[in-house]
Amino acid sequence: MSENRARKKAEEMINWNLVFPNQANPSGNMFGGDVLAIMDTTAAMAAKRFSEREVSTVTVEAVHFAKPIMVGDNIKTTAKVVAVGNTSMIVKADVYRDIGNNKLMRCVSAYLNFVAFDYQRHPTQVPLLDLEDDDIIANKIALTIKANAQQRQDAINQLLKANEG
Ligand SMILES: CC(C)(COP(=O)(O)OP(=O)(O)OC[C@H]1O[C@@H](n2cnc3c(N)ncnc32)[C@H](O)[C@@H]1OP(=O)(O)O)[C@@H](O)C(=O)NCCC(=O)NCCS
Repeated sequence: MSENRARKKAEEMINWNLVFPNQANPSGNMFGGDVLAIMDTTAAMAAKRFSEREVSTVTVEAVHFAKPIMVGDNIKTTAKVVAVGNTSMIVKADVYRDIGNNKLMRCVSAYLNFVAFDYQRHPTQVPLLDLEDDDIIANKIALTIKANAQQRQDAINQLLKANEG
């Protein structure tokens, strides 16, 4: 029953890393897979803290490697729950490089879709989100992304099923 659902604000998780040479791709920039691992971990922490449950990534949406990250960079990763469904949460994650003079440049962004689990690893209801004004646009984007992702999955399932028959 929705009236029994707790309502809470989401907390932004912040994570700093130094980019080492073993994280470089052949072009000498930070390898995208390593960036995604940091985003996924930080986002999982945000989802876990919000839901107070174990969580799993279900999909990673709208990944945009907008600017390269260089070896030796200090990078800041932020992650915050910006939308919730019944058992799912959408976390916006961003990675910035420190470009000096107290300035950050956003390099990578994504929306990650998580599901919360009960003790038997069944999807379980998450709290309602008390949305902050700064997150209203991200919330709208996240809900659009979630609807598109679900629609895409339904279409894939239908095609696979038709192929089986
Ligand atoms: C997460 C998992 C239990 C979901 O299973 P499922 O049968 O799809 O579960 P449900 O149908 O109950 O869906 C649960 C929620 O996930 C959402 N969801 C599931 N697949 C989705 C997709 N492809 N896109 C968007 N949302 C999706 C559903 O909309 C639902 O959200 P809601 O309750 O807020 O409406 C299952 O996919 C799983 O275990 N995946 C592996 C996760 C993992 O190991 N991740 C680590 C990364 S390698």
